[in-house]
Amino acid sequence: MIQARGITRTYQTHGAFTGAHAVPALRGVDFTLPDGGAVSFIGESGCGKTTLGKILTGLETFDGGELVVDGVELSGLSARARAKYFRRIQMIHQDPYSALNPTRTVEATLGDPLRMRAKEIGGDPGKWRERAAELLTLVGLEPAAVLPKYPHQLSGGQRQRVVIARALTVDPEVLIADEAVSMIDVSMRLGILSLLRDLRTRLGISLVFITHDVATARYVGDGGELHVIYRGEVVERGLTDDVILTPVHPYTQCLLSAVPIMRGLEEPGPDRMAPIRALDERTATPGCLFEPRCPFATQECALTHPTLVPLGGDGAGVGSAAVDVGDLGDGAHVHACLHPAARRVVGVEIGAASA
Ligand SMILES: Nc1ncnc2c1ncn2[C@@H]1O[C@H](COP(=O)(O)OP(=O)(O)OP(=O)(O)O)[C@@H](O)[C@H]1O
Ligand code: SF4
Ligand SMILES: [Mg+2]
Repeated sequence: MIQARGITRTYQTHGAFTGAHAVPALRGVDFTLPDGGAVSFIGESGCGKTTLGKILTGLETFDGGELVVDGVELSGLSARARAKYFRRIQMIHQDPYSALNPTRTVEATLGDPLRMRAKEIGGDPGKWRERAAELLTLVGLEPAAVLPKYPHQLSGGQRQRVVIARALTVDPEVLIADEAVSMIDVSMRLGILSLLRDLRTRLGISLVFITHDVATARYVGDGGELHVIYRGEVVERGLTDDVILTPVHPYTQCLLSAVPIMRGLEEPGPDRMAPIRALDERTATPGCLFEPRCPFATQECALTHPTLVPLGGDGAGVGSAAVDVGDLGDGAHVHACLHPAARRVVGVEIGAASA
């Protein structure tokens, strides 16, 4: 089980025109990933999804908060002890081509980690071929056909399956899939998504599914929680179907409608989200981060920062004061909006077919 509490990460950057400034990539993200469960994160580009995935796999550090794996808080451990925990959590990146070494065959790609793993667990390193064949079959590839091949001789879908097989060589307990199908031909996406779903049920692997696409989140993260992130902050979360079928936060409603339109040109509605301004990324605001783009913003929204509250909660401060959302248990549907409403969401076809 993974428990993340208040994870924050701020990057210090230096732009030619903007000078030195801080970019808050994550602003206090909380979630629980039960064994064999799934948590999906959805949000537009730059909201912090990859940063979160990298933190969970130890590829990136965090400035604040706690990361607890199987009851052990990782920041208190030595780098070596931490690495042991991070080995259990493997990441599948967006681009399978760059994730594989172009000069190595599939055989070489799987052989090294399998021999190392066999030594670690007291197995027979000489039996790595059998294990490679087993893993390739598990991910839907024909071992004899793909073992001698180089990445460029495989399709995008086959490459991503090899990447998944390589992640499985260390017997991970958690997979982080970061936009795992976005660079793959549309015709092969559903196969990879089904594979990720299957790995949950067949191997009991837990899944953190990172996407900007609500349809894939619903398909793969079925039965788990969906967290909607805006500029590093979770603005709505709950069981995946609850959030998708009854979105309450205007940003979630905009994501579901997926029709960005300039504010002011149309009547306000859930599908009327102004485009993000470069300034928004850096501006510190006392109010709601979504206020500059929100079709339902009021003066109060520019001044008061909403915290997560349960449905029916009455707004700012309630999340941190009267109601501790952590006490509501996993799967509670909570949102951070001062003026929530279950507004009609127009548009998108949600389902496996659109994956
Ligand atoms: N190494 C870095 N140095 C400085 N800023 C960074 C760094 N990595 C990420 N950022 C910034 O942090 C924010 C979050 O980036 P991140 O890559 O996590 O977003 P994302 O949700 O994965 O976006 P995308 O959907 O485009 O992959 C962005 O504003 C990004 O510019
Ligand atoms: S708090 Fe206000 S600005 Fe923020 S999402 Fe809700 S209505 Fe929009
Ligand atoms: Mg990313």
